Amino acid sequence: MARVFSGVQPTGNLHLGNYLGAIRNFVPLQDQYDCLYCVVDLHAITVWQDPKQLKAQTREVTAAYLAAGIDPKRAIIFNQSQVAAHAELAWIFNCVARLGWLNRMTQFKDKAGKDREKASTGLYVYPNLMAADILAYKATHVPVGEDQKQHLELARDIAQKFNHDYGVAFFPEIQPLILGSATRVMSLRDGSKKMSKSDPSDASRIVMTDGADAIAAKIRKATTNPNLLPGAEVLDESGEVPDAARAERPEAWNLLGIYAALDGRPLKAVVAEFAGSQFSRFKQALTDLAVAKLGPIGAEMKRLMDDPGYVDQVLKDGGDRARALAAPVLAEVYDVVGFLRP
Ligand code: TYM
Repeated sequence: MARVFSGVQPTGNLHLGNYLGAIRNFVPLQDQYDCLYCVVDLHAITVWQDPKQLKAQTREVTAAYLAAGIDPKRAIIFNQSQVAAHAELAWIFNCVARLGWLNRMTQFKDKAGKDREKASTGLYVYPNLMAADILAYKATHVPVGEDQKQHLELARDIAQKFNHDYGVAFFPEIQPLILGSATRVMSLRDGSKKMSKSDPSDASRIVMTDGADAIAAKIRKATTNPNLLPGAEVLDESGEVPDAARAERPEAWNLLGIYAALDGRPLKAVVAEFAGSQFSRFKQALTDLAVAKLGPIGAEMKRLMDDPGYVDQVLKDGGDRARALAAPVLAEVYDVVGFLRP
């Protein structure tokens, strides 16, 4: 069976973008693929993490996976640092990837900001570790939000260069799965910025553990303009929002996309339903939907976070299973590269 791998960083403030762009899409894939869902703690420390918080945040992402409906008996749920193969393969990939490739990564530029000299070297080679995560299991399908596309293209280049340099057909081709109508959820305060864990404004994001009151307040405060909601005639033949239309009303399209994703309906149907409505009516409907869909997940996450013994057991079991899958792959890589294992 083809294998799926994906990961989420335990950096706190897990939000609606993480849910709709990634975690929610992990769930149905369990029926079709062998799935590994990782809490990428090695990636998290590319920027400073308080050690105590990191442990809590690792359990939080695990709780989100479980509460969203990932079955730990079928899928493998684990935290990255438990499986040394990730770091070992990442080192080899540090020697395969080229500086020029990493220099093009927009996420590094965004995260390092103006003072690049002060960024950790880990942040720079972050995408090489991501390639190692996937390829240590020879996974082929990777469900992610749109912002990870460039990293996955790099992972594909690394796999190809490894195969080419060593004259082997060892690593498979990686295919991104960018699914649903909310692959890039934007900030509720500024429709030109991605919803992100690190935005200083709490009102910019709905976090997965928000209760009904917080969800309602954030949606009510979400930036909109006084115009009525757009109609379906604006969409192109495939039901997508043309770039020019999106640029004109980013906030409206963002909220409509969130609604469609939460309701599991095509964007076109949602747009048709609310065409010409006042924002106040639409925001009320979105609040009701968000509370109905996210409320039970947030409540289950809180219940699980109060039971760290269970969560840790899930991670341990997943770690054992992941190690067993990665070991033969790494043994073969070491042989290909020419490392002796006397
Ligand atoms: P992270 O933790 O930043 O994000 C986790 C997932 O959430 C998606 N995402 C979004 N989707 C839609 N709208 C948004 N505003 C939004 N913000 C985040 C991300 O695309 C991601 O799918 N590098 C990865 C973690 C990782 C990984 C991997 C993923 C490490 N190794 C191997 C796949 C395969 C990341 O940035 O996670």
